[in-house]
Amino acid sequence: MAERISEEKINDIRQSVDIVDVVSDYVQLKKQGRNYFGLCPFHGENTPSFSVSPDKQIYHCFGCGAGGNAFSFLMELEGYSFVEAALKLAEKANIDLEIEATSIAKEKSVSKDLQQMMEAHDLLRKFYHHLLVNTKDGQHALEYLLDRGFTMESIQKFQIGYALNSWDFVCKFLTKRKFDPNYMEKAGLIIKREHDGAFFDRFRNRIIFPIFDRNGKTIAFSGRSLGEEQPKYLNSPETPIFNKSKILYNFHLARPSIRKHQQAVLFEGFADVIAADRAGVENGLATMGTSLTEEHVAVLRRNVESVTICYDSDSAGIDAAYRAATMLTEAGSHVRIALLPDGLDPDDYIKQSGGEKFQNDVIGASQTFMSFKIFYHRRGKNLQNEGDRLLYIEEILKEISRLEKAVERDHYLRQLANEFSLSLEALKQQQKQVYYQEKRNNQGQQANSGRKQLFIPQQNDKLKPAYFTAERRLIAHMLRDSEVAYKVQVLLQGNSFNIDEHQAIMTYLLGFYEKGEASDSSAFLNFLQDDKLKRIVADIGMMSINDEISEQELNDYIKQVLNYQKLLKIKEKEAERKEAESQKDYSRAAAIAMEIIQLQKLL
Ligand code: UTP
Ligand code: MN
Repeated sequence: MAERISEEKINDIRQSVDIVDVVSDYVQLKKQGRNYFGLCPFHGENTPSFSVSPDKQIYHCFGCGAGGNAFSFLMELEGYSFVEAALKLAEKANIDLEIEATSIAKEKSVSKDLQQMMEAHDLLRKFYHHLLVNTKDGQHALEYLLDRGFTMESIQKFQIGYALNSWDFVCKFLTKRKFDPNYMEKAGLIIKREHDGAFFDRFRNRIIFPIFDRNGKTIAFSGRSLGEEQPKYLNSPETPIFNKSKILYNFHLARPSIRKHQQAVLFEGFADVIAADRAGVENGLATMGTSLTEEHVAVLRRNVESVTICYDSDSAGIDAAYRAATMLTEAGSHVRIALLPDGLDPDDYIKQSGGEKFQNDVIGASQTFMSFKIFYHRRGKNLQNEGDRLLYIEEILKEISRLEKAVERDHYLRQLANEFSLSLEALKQQQKQVYYQEKRNNQGQQANSGRKQLFIPQQNDKLKPAYFTAERRLIAHMLRDSEVAYKVQVLLQGNSFNIDEHQAIMTYLLGFYEKGEASDSSAFLNFLQDDKLKRIVADIGMMSINDEISEQELNDYIKQVLNYQKLLKIKEKEAERKEAESQKDYSRAAAIAMEIIQLQKLL
């Protein structure tokens, strides 16, 4: 497959992209020394064990062993083929692949269907938008939006549109452009009527909010009714290109601001995201009418340190905020909650009080999860009533028990003691009981909330035999310098490495250098086909070694590799000698003993 794009182009691509940029699209990275660290996107974790080396252009996870270069990163994460990964990287690096790319696109019939679906969405997005802003048919819809406080600027920015009050406008529009109606039905744009198989439009007489994926491609729509018609919002169904439980509305536009502030604001509805954006809060996101899923949490966790939850302040919104905050905290995110005055949603609030007040009094006045919990457990209780009061104290003690820091626990215990004139000692004692009770209740699956110290990967080479480490160190130097590779080959005198994978890597590496390639870990990873070997190479590539290897060091490593083989040989001979002795063949036993002594001398 790789032949489809010339090797030269592949090299161009490899040299033009920076793996740190590529990985940063998915993982929030922090620089530490020469390398970058972040949470591994290939397995769930709360402490970063995923590292990226800009010098070597490779990544490696010390937790799950994933590793490779920019190409294998996209292949593993997005499920791309090598060619697809190359196309994606070429796009990122602005490298034109011209004819090569189109011939590949023709080959890939599966992704061609998806391509068609996205193209149709893209065309429709433009057309819906045009209908809203430029036509008489859309005028009433535009007035509705402006009346609600939407500005022309945000209508443009969010590409809001209008779907005509017609049963077959979209059907005709797409058929005329040669889109296959069956695919368009699968894409959720049109609906097939049961009894006669005729197609008709899904969205009719609705304001259209396009939904974009992380790359800004239109993948779905949500249509809001203009009046009281139900449902209020009609969404595209789940399709091959649209997965509600993963998508966060506005992710592609918000990303730069999220990066800059290391913070995202999570809303319930996209009207809220758009209003907040108008108010200058550009890092807003929303789920698609579903509650927050573990997949959403994972996306957030990978991209941002801190999340402010700003949900509607009705009872459903407050419960949802509590749930979302719990999930995010458990995943290790730093969470704050922004509360609105009773019964309002962010959109209403901004309309009533303006953007500045929203920024300062709502987002700026956000509170910690713990102080939100105090508010949360008070709701609906009459604290003058003894029963309610005891229940409340019990709930707060449970929450206090979940706090990791003793100082924090102390703070809230004192607060509680003061408020209800209770003895601090008694409260402390009860809190301990609650703690052990809770611990017993959820044995094993204790939430490891909010722990975020950077994990400094420790190579556990100490647990490995000396020859193992020696072989890895040799390979590390061989990857860095072809001269060292050839030298090692000579010094091994026809012997192999003891670990099969190490031997395989050396063989490939020598082949790679024979082709006249310069030493380059990332290029070598493209040369390797075997995934397991790639991972090992990435792992070895991440080892910290001196720039140069001294003759002394080189000889020591070689000795460790060869010694192991001699030790094996000695063991073999020992067994032979015992065998000879047991057969009372003492002269043979003596001869073998001599051989053993010779071998031991060589060690
Ligand atoms: P809300 O009912 O809070 O809507 O639903 P909203 O954001 O305030 O919208 P406006 O101001 O009335 O226009 C919040 C989110 O729930 C989803 C949508 O994603 C919406 O943004 N939703 C709501 C649906 O999917 N379908 C519905 O019928 C209603
Ligand atoms: Mn609203």
